[in-house]
Amino acid sequence: MRKKIIAANWKMNMTQSEATGFIETFLLELGESIEVEVVIVPPFTAIAAVNLALGDAQHIKVGAQNMHWERAGAFTGEISPAMLRDLFVRYVVLGHSERRTLFGETDEMVNRKVRAAHEAMLRPILCVGETLEERERGDVEKVLGTQLRGSLAGLGAKEMQETVVAYEPVWAIGTGKTATAEQAQEAHAFVRRTLAEISDKATADKMRIQYGGSVKPDNARTLMSQPDIDGALVGGASLDPRSFAQIVKGSQEL
Ligand code: 13P
Repeated sequence: MRKKIIAANWKMNMTQSEATGFIETFLLELGESIEVEVVIVPPFTAIAAVNLALGDAQHIKVGAQNMHWERAGAFTGEISPAMLRDLFVRYVVLGHSERRTLFGETDEMVNRKVRAAHEAMLRPILCVGETLEERERGDVEKVLGTQLRGSLAGLGAKEMQETVVAYEPVWAIGTGKTATAEQAQEAHAFVRRTLAEISDKATADKMRIQYGGSVKPDNARTLMSQPDIDGALVGGASLDPRSFAQIVKGSQEL
């Protein structure tokens, strides 16, 4: 049984004080018992504030939105895996479509980051997804297959198992257009088959695959009730503590 994982990707939003306010409200809204794994992914500058605000709520994990693959050195503006560990970060989002399209990240760069994350005992949330043009051309499987094989090259079964994959169709990110549950399930099933080819079926069956792209309180449950959808990577709706708590609570008992 795969434990659902729901992550809040805040992108370039939230100052320290806003982050603190978010966590305070979110914890109240969430209440005591959650059966799913929750990850808050703030910008680097708000990670410490989120940790502080979480206090004893250690069942909520903290993630980062990116990192460099090198351990240290002359890489102005970059953040290393060890720096994230130092901030008690457990997960790191890698290869988000915004990084791929706006900052030129290739599968090869993402693969270096994924491997560096494992070396540093950080768990990658690897994002893959097709553009609208690629979908209309009928290239969804080709694009996802290339991204997965390129980004996950060289990982052993244990590292694969500790990797979360996020399927985020680019056309659904920030657009209000969600993939239908059927479209998402079809892509997730393909992702899992590909993971089995890269690794083996038993490993692929243990890996969690999140859906991302305009996830909101009113569509999250339907998406996450699909057999191969093991959680959500939420952008816009994760900036409001009540909406995000609703998404988390709505996923209980699925
Ligand atoms: P939205 O939920 O705003 O569409 O963003 C999705 C996303 O990119 C999460 O990583």
